[in-house]
Amino acid sequence: MVVLLSGNGSNLQALLDQQPNYSYEVVGVISNRPDAKGLQRAELAGIPAITLDHKTFPGREDYDQALITRIDQFEPGLVVLAGYMRILTGSFVRHYKNRLMNIHPSLLPDYKGLDTYKRVLNDRQRQHGTTVHFVTEALDSGAIIAQATLEIAASDDEQSLCKRVQRMEHRIYPIAVDFYTSGRLSMDDTRIRLDNIPLGKKGYQLDEQTLIEQL
Ligand code: GRF
Repeated sequence: MVVLLSGNGSNLQALLDQQPNYSYEVVGVISNRPDAKGLQRAELAGIPAITLDHKTFPGREDYDQALITRIDQFEPGLVVLAGYMRILTGSFVRHYKNRLMNIHPSLLPDYKGLDTYKRVLNDRQRQHGTTVHFVTEALDSGAIIAQATLEIAASDDEQSLCKRVQRMEHRIYPIAVDFYTSGRLSMDDTRIRLDNIPLGKKGYQLDEQTLIEQL
């Protein structure tokens, strides 16, 4: 698979660290930002780390076409977004239909978009979490593969909540990617199946305790 990112790349790191336990292989990493720390992580792991700077392209369509060309040189079976902070064009999303995954820090379909930690705390929600989903043209709206939930503590602030959610992300993303690359996941236009059993609308469910016990 090819991983796209724009920043820190802690999810990339988790995918790389856990790769020996799973059926996927990261063959390339592409960043739209030259200063993304994720590029250094890829280099350290001996994986091609490529910058395709969006600022050097006249528009979104041109950029995404160049991105498709670069990704497809790796001939990946799957493209994984890991903190890739750009809106994708419809033609990009259609090109990778059912083989483009994202991780989003909320219990989708709740809290699409940015600043989820702040919004969840402001709304005094009792739960928060993270979702791995297929990418479709509508923002954060594709079929859900897996979701991990935690109970918000009275003492949680944005920073602590982010830390707890990301810790879950680092376990759930390798698990969800492996569902796909091991052939356990199948899709038709309406639903996802895991081991041939239809998954509910919220995908495969995990909680903080279960994920941390596995660390
Ligand atoms: C993650 O929290 C993910 O949910 C969101 O962007 C963040 C990326 O973090 N899409 P990192 O770059 O993997 O550390």
